[in-house]
Amino acid sequence: MAIDITTATLAQLGDTTPEQVTARFAELRARFDDEIACQSHSSDWPALTAQWTGRKSGALTRIGDNWLKPAPPQLKKIVGQEFQKLKAHVESALESKRKEIESAAEQSASARDRIDLSLPGVQRAIGTQHLIRQTYEELQRIFLSIGFSVVEGPEIETPYYNFEALNIPEHHPARDNMDTFYIEGARGGHLLRTHTSPMQIRTMEKQPPPVRIIVPGKVYRRDNPDATHGYMFHQIEGLAVDTDITFCDFKGTVEYFVREFFGPSAKTRLRPSYFPFTEPSAEVDATCHVCGGKGCRVCKFSGWIELFGAGMVNPAVYGFVKNGYDASKHSGFAFGMGVDRLAMMKYGVTELPLLYQNDVRFLRQFP
Ligand code: PHE
Repeated sequence: MAIDITTATLAQLGDTTPEQVTARFAELRARFDDEIACQSHSSDWPALTAQWTGRKSGALTRIGDNWLKPAPPQLKKIVGQEFQKLKAHVESALESKRKEIESAAEQSASARDRIDLSLPGVQRAIGTQHLIRQTYEELQRIFLSIGFSVVEGPEIETPYYNFEALNIPEHHPARDNMDTFYIEGARGGHLLRTHTSPMQIRTMEKQPPPVRIIVPGKVYRRDNPDATHGYMFHQIEGLAVDTDITFCDFKGTVEYFVREFFGPSAKTRLRPSYFPFTEPSAEVDATCHVCGGKGCRVCKFSGWIELFGAGMVNPAVYGFVKNGYDASKHSGFAFGMGVDRLAMMKYGVTELPLLYQNDVRFLRQFP
């Protein structure tokens, strides 16, 4: 509106009779009704409200100041009445508009949030256990079924537990194939364990005989990566110590394990070997899972495949442990298996890196 009639007095507008006053108010009311009808966005509402009912600069305030206050006595009454009517109309119209806007906003919000229970749910692909984890579970099942229990230990070890207490003194050549990662700065030095055997010592220190434990876990060696080596691999250690454990128990346990893991036709062979913490020591071989013992490229035509190292606990180890372990009373056996290697043999995986690349085309083959 070019000229806002509420900024002038009624006298300036030329209204001198009650009829003209009534018509003037009707004009203003029509203007208000137009404005509120055109208003469609809820964001317009505050501006419209301020424009009409704002205390300082709203139209109603200006009418009070410019029309009512200076009105001549004979028009005061009619201006007052018309003013009250207009005010009531404006206020109630704005209020009902506000309610309308709010309920529309609520409705659209609840329409947005409404859950349609008849829609199909979000389908998420279900993962599976990694082949290494599956193999661990299988190994654990076998040993738990014959009375072993599972313990775990630290991957960061001291040289004492990783070597000395296992009867591997400094400068002993047995350390050569166990080069590993050393952690600088730690008091007394720390390293990433090269095998799970330190847990033999830690367990016996905590628990007097008898013990029957297996120890799953990661181990580290400074190996050059190739098809069968990496800087980290998985082992499962076994240790059984009691008053009457013989080499027969050792052999029987190993044979039972090989049959359970590779199937009833798998045969076992013990080959003399050397570990400072077992005496005598053995490499456990099984009949080749590819050719069944006839001889093939995988077993280099020998019919046998090397599985893991093992042996009877060296009495010298009890000397490091003490805690009730007495070489004249106690005896036992230990073994340390490479889980990656066992998984590769059993499931025909030819490349170790496949186990760590997380390629779903590989992983899906072991659901
Ligand atoms: N700790 C040995 C290794 O990692 C394996 C082993 C364990 C051998 C227990 C004998 C007894 O090579």
